[in-house]
Amino acid sequence: MLRIGLIGTGGFSKMHAKILSEMNDVQMVAVCGTSLAKAEAFAAACGIPSSYESLDEMLDGEPLDAVYILVPPMSHGEYEMKLIERGIPFFVEKPLGLNTDQPEQIRNEIGKKSLITSVGYHFRYTDTVVLMKQLLKEQSIGMMTGYWMGSMPQVAWWRDQSRSGGQFIEQSTHLVDIMRYCVGEIDEVYAMYGHQVMHKQFEGVTVPDVGTVTLKFKSGVIANISNTCVLPSGVGKTGITCYTQQGILEWDSERLTRIEAHETTIKNKKVNPYLAENEAFIYALKTGDTGLILSDYADAFKTQRVTVAALESAKSGLPIRLN
Ligand SMILES: NC(=O)c1ccc[n+]([C@@H]2O[C@H](COP(=O)([O-])OP(=O)(O)OC[C@H]3O[C@@H](n4cnc5c(N)ncnc54)[C@H](O)[C@@H]3O)[C@@H](O)[C@H]2O)c1
Repeated sequence: MLRIGLIGTGGFSKMHAKILSEMNDVQMVAVCGTSLAKAEAFAAACGIPSSYESLDEMLDGEPLDAVYILVPPMSHGEYEMKLIERGIPFFVEKPLGLNTDQPEQIRNEIGKKSLITSVGYHFRYTDTVVLMKQLLKEQSIGMMTGYWMGSMPQVAWWRDQSRSGGQFIEQSTHLVDIMRYCVGEIDEVYAMYGHQVMHKQFEGVTVPDVGTVTLKFKSGVIANISNTCVLPSGVGKTGITCYTQQGILEWDSERLTRIEAHETTIKNKKVNPYLAENEAFIYALKTGDTGLILSDYADAFKTQRVTVAALESAKSGLPIRLN
């Protein structure tokens, strides 16, 4: 039986806890949060036997086979380092943090210990993304566009630039990651961000609410990802469109549409990517075989570099070269 600990008691901790609670050979044994009261409430709701006020207490109190780090962007760093010190594998939700300095150190320390890690870039596990990757390998790609157009999540940390990193680091990172997964590495980033609406409507909004980022891939492919959080709740669209010599591939979280000269085919998503990413991590813990993990810390770091470079570019007004 694998003994799992959780850090974080928010919405996404619930999602992972539900999946883990339905798995054989896995037991969630402990949770810690920002306060003992929150950890206790979460433990009671999810049937977890022990709750703690801090990670140190949890690690001293329980032998653990792995820990899930399910906290907002500003709260990363110390947790990862403590787990690495103790040699405990971890699953961590995206994004890796607010910047690249600490994630780079963490990546280097993980490398020294060959620790098993997995990062919550769950879209990689979707069958439609896997198919898009396969098709793009066979096709001559011209360019791609991506869009994450939605409303502002109603948690206080998200609207605060110093805590979330902004929409491109926090949300659109998924689109950067899917593009990297399908097409390869990015070597140039140029971004423009703006503050149009949300700071006038709500207190404490410091994140830009519109942005557009141009990416150049090592292969020569160019892409643009635009995002906004000005839309009303319940209205939005998220996806990627690829333009190739063979036609158009339109991906969104539900389907992949393939548009060719005389035929349009639609493949609906069949895989639950959240389940698949958890199964891949648990399988790696059980067997030591990490082959099913599609995003480990070192790979996710490359996505983080791109999204952080976009913020730097938006601030400086200059393109940023990555090497
Ligand atoms: N992969 C995905 O599709 C996906 C979807 C939703 C959220 N997420 C990610 O999961 C992370 C958490 O999001 P959420 O929706 O659960 O947010 P949330 O606001 O619902 O919950 C965050 C929780 O973290 C806790 N927290 C904050 N700082 C902490 C700290 N230092 N130590 C321990 N706990 C701390 C808060 O008390 C809160 O309970 C975010 O990084 C988010 O991007 C990923």
